Amino acid sequence: MHDLLPAGLGLRVQQSPRRITRAAVDSLEQLIIVTPAKWPDKGWSQLPDGKHLEALVRRAGVEPERRIWQSRLSNRLATGLTLGRLPEAAEGIDIPGAYPLLRFAGELAAAALQDKPHKLGLTVLGLSADESASLVRAMVLAVAAHRFQLPRYQSGKTTRSRTLTLKVFGLGERVDVGRSLAEAEATNLARWLTAQPPNKLDARTYRDALEQLSADNGWRMRFLDEKQLKRLAAGAFLAVAQGNASADAGIAHIRYRPGKTTASPALALVGKGIIFDTGGTNLKPFRAMLDMHHDMAGSAVAVATLLALTRLKVPFAVDCWLAITENRLSADAYKSRDIVTASNGTTIEVIHTDAEGRMALADTLALAAREQPELILDYATLTGSCVQALTERYSGVFSNRDALNQLLIDVGRESGERVWPFPMDKDFDDDLKSSVADILQCAMDGTGDHIHAARFLQRFVPDNIPWVHMDLSSGSRKSELAQIPSGTTGFGVRFSLSLVLDHGETVKQTANAIKN
Ligand code: BES
Ligand code: ZN
Ligand code: ZN
Repeated sequence: MHDLLPAGLGLRVQQSPRRITRAAVDSLEQLIIVTPAKWPDKGWSQLPDGKHLEALVRRAGVEPERRIWQSRLSNRLATGLTLGRLPEAAEGIDIPGAYPLLRFAGELAAAALQDKPHKLGLTVLGLSADESASLVRAMVLAVAAHRFQLPRYQSGKTTRSRTLTLKVFGLGERVDVGRSLAEAEATNLARWLTAQPPNKLDARTYRDALEQLSADNGWRMRFLDEKQLKRLAAGAFLAVAQGNASADAGIAHIRYRPGKTTASPALALVGKGIIFDTGGTNLKPFRAMLDMHHDMAGSAVAVATLLALTRLKVPFAVDCWLAITENRLSADAYKSRDIVTASNGTTIEVIHTDAEGRMALADTLALAAREQPELILDYATLTGSCVQALTERYSGVFSNRDALNQLLIDVGRESGERVWPFPMDKDFDDDLKSSVADILQCAMDGTGDHIHAARFLQRFVPDNIPWVHMDLSSGSRKSELAQIPSGTTGFGVRFSLSLVLDHGETVKQTANAIKN
């Protein structure tokens, strides 16, 4: 296995339709029991040690805010019990969506995995079939996220851990968890790549890792290196890359083609892969630069989404385009007032070298568009102003199809990866007028930079191709987000799957019916 790729999920899910037995409990190291928000009055005796549980619950009373209680049986394995009450169903002015359930699943997983069980049970009391199925899927995502070990470089510590078996009891019908497993694995891949230190995952080793992933998954990959990009006149990308110490930068183009498809891709996934963003000539101060190895999160989410789609064997062709370079300070680095020409012929007046993401993406989007995909999705940790606007809980979305915005909000709620759209009116372009080039790289005053950045990118996407840009303000966090523990989130993978797999037809109809 490649050093720069994570271990597999290491999670096996077994389902037994029948009620949990005493013998089954005794074989578990930990058992999670989930009930509705209001404790059920009866039914406890269906569970082994039901009396014990009922007493525990009665003593606990119901503190409205508390959702989780823990105890331990006095059997041979001293089986741990984690008892959880579902969050209240949203009603009235509350916002519906998957977030509260995923957050609850994250809390349950954190509690239940404390002493690293290998055999973990899950059963429910008093939940409907639908509630149970949603819970099981949320738990698969949460357990996979919580047991996952992000890359560590401590001497003497191995990162290998034993497979965890999650045994689900008493649901009557099997819950299909195939999609959740694919989503969990892909989200972990995105988190893993994003968390890698910038000297471990540099442009060269990132390329190697992508080649390995491509070989493992039957993808075809070509790497447009600096030489080839010069031939393609990709001057915007190259302006950023010219400050690097090595010539390893480039645009990775990865293709997934099921069966004998030769059609143009149904989907192009594009990602910002800035290995480390120093700001360049307009150097960032210490705090702002500290975690800028996360600035390749967009590329990680793009390739991880491709992995999930591949695992699910989708029947359509998908392209993936990753813009991989550092943004460095050097004698050769680009500077304010430089004029560069992108591959679609657009001339750009550079204003601020820290706005490198839009430069690298300009050419990448233009190249992706040449293949005439039916939809382009791009992901980028593009602007600090998007974080200012939304915090790290939501990511921003921008589209050249205004009519898609409500669907994007809905998909965010359904997937629990919440997004909010921003306006894309044409007159924002007034702020990007240059007196010497076709466009300014960014506006002089920083207000609404996420909107200006999106308007800038739109210049590189032909109007006939529906396009959604995600400004990943929720790519990494100091605290947890939904079922994901703190750190890098892999945000975007599950949103994209929901958009493409659950709402693909609506996207097509909406995107093609109304053109801006
Ligand atoms: N990668 C940053 C944006 C960023 C910062 C995303 C922190 C998430 C967290 C981007 O390249 C950048 O530096 N943008 C500048 C743009 C400005 C100079 C117009 C910014 O936001 O300050
Ligand atoms: Zn920057
Ligand atoms: Zn950046």
